[in-house]
Amino acid sequence: MADLRLDKLVAQAADLPRSQARRAILAGRVMLDGAVCRRPDQKVEQTARLTLDGDPLCWEEHLYLMVNKPAGVLSASRDPHQQTVVDLVRDRYPRRELFPAGRLDKDSTGFVLLTDDGALAHALLSPRHHVEKTYKVTLDLPADEKMQRGFADGVTLADGERMLLARLEIEAEDPTCVTVVLHQGVYHQIKRMFGVFGAGVRTLHRSAIGPVRLDPQLAPGQSRPLTEQELKSLREAAGEK
Ligand code: URA
Repeated sequence: MADLRLDKLVAQAADLPRSQARRAILAGRVMLDGAVCRRPDQKVEQTARLTLDGDPLCWEEHLYLMVNKPAGVLSASRDPHQQTVVDLVRDRYPRRELFPAGRLDKDSTGFVLLTDDGALAHALLSPRHHVEKTYKVTLDLPADEKMQRGFADGVTLADGERMLLARLEIEAEDPTCVTVVLHQGVYHQIKRMFGVFGAGVRTLHRSAIGPVRLDPQLAPGQSRPLTEQELKSLREAAGEK
C-alpha cells in the first residue's frame, strides 16, 4: 500500500474534517512513532504508530462493508430523490467516499459491497477476472433443461449481445426457484437472460460475491465490515495479492 499523508490519516482515524486534523497536527497534538510531527503533508507508512493527544489512533486506508440491500433502495452513492445503499451507512462513516462495487437493480435484494477502494472494485467487476456472483431467483414459471443448457452455452440477449457462460441450478421440489451464477454484470442481465426464454423474474437476491457469502445474520438494511479472511479471499478471487 502507498504511504499516505499524515493529515488524511488523522482525519480518517479520528473522524475529523481534514482542516481540523491539520490544525491538530500544526498544534503539536499528533505524535508519529513516538515523536511530535507538525507536518500535515508528512508521508506515513502503514505500520506507523499514531497518537492524538496521547490517545492511539487506528486507521485503515480503505473500508469494505457487506450490506444486505433491501428492495426499493438504489445501488448508488447519492441520489437527490431516492434512498441509496450508501445512505444506509452514511451516519456511521460520514467522511468516507463509499460506493457500491457492482450494482443490483432497485427491486433486487442482497449482498452489495460498499468500499472506497477503487482498485479492488475494478478488479472484482472486470470480466477478465471472472469473479462469480451468485443469485437466488424466483420465476413466474418453472425453469427447465432448455434454459439450463442455454445458460451453459451463453445466452444471446434480444439485442444480439452474447453473454458469458452462466450456471443455472433448478430446485427439484420447486423449479420456479433457481440459483444463477454469473461472471459478468450487464444491465438487468438475469432478467434479460430469462426473458429470452419467456420467463419473468419475480424476486432476485444476490447471495454471494466470489467466495464470500452474505452473512445470514444481517437483516435487510444492515451491514458489517468484511472480516480479514473474507477480504483476503475476495482479493484472491479478483487476482489481487
Ligand atoms: N441481474 C438483474 O437482472 N438484476 C440484478 O439486480 C442483478 C442481476
